[in-house]
Amino acid sequence: MSTRMLSVIAITLWLVTIAVAGFFFVRGQTRVAPDGRTAILLAPGERNLVLTEMRGMLATVQAMVDGVKAGDLKQVAQAARASGMAAAADVNPALMAKLPLEFKQLGLGVHKRFDEIATERNSGGSHEQLLGSLGSQLSACVACHASYRIDAAAPVAK
Ligand code: HEC
Repeated sequence: MSTRMLSVIAITLWLVTIAVAGFFFVRGQTRVAPDGRTAILLAPGERNLVLTEMRGMLATVQAMVDGVKAGDLKQVAQAARASGMAAAADVNPALMAKLPLEFKQLGLGVHKRFDEIATERNSGGSHEQLLGSLGSQLSACVACHASYRIDAAAPVAK
């Protein structure tokens, strides 16, 4: 086999590897679930991690609504900050590779907006503004839940 031929094969294999990696980066580890949503397949520990983060966001929303009702805007800002980007920062690369690109974008968008809401209240946002921001934030929760669910990945056969 000529050197030229070998280099063509090497470059082709290299491109295939990049294409496969790119495909998984965009698609994650998923399948279509019987209810029509995209099921993300995660190991039990990874699923727990994501669901714990979710329950944290629900607690944030509850504390924010309570804060607005009590007129305690400091509580609103603190609750929002607790689900800001800092809450998303420690996700490990193996888990990130299993999440579809759109899921990551939606998830990061929600964390970023909680930080923005915290800042909004610090810069004197009104109750109506806060409730408006919270309303659009909740539409992102609803949209993602309508498209995705998390299933346990089949255990690896030994
Ligand atoms: C990027 C997508 C995404 C976003 C954005 C999102 N969620 Fe979730 N959430 C999920 C998925 C997927 C599940 C698992 C649902 C399933 O398997 O049926 C889930 C589950 C939950 C659960 C159940 C937790 C448990 O222990 O079972 C709660 C509560 C929750 N989300 C709250 C929220 C709130 C509140 C928001 C918005 C502030 C939000 N989520 C935004 C994807 C998302």
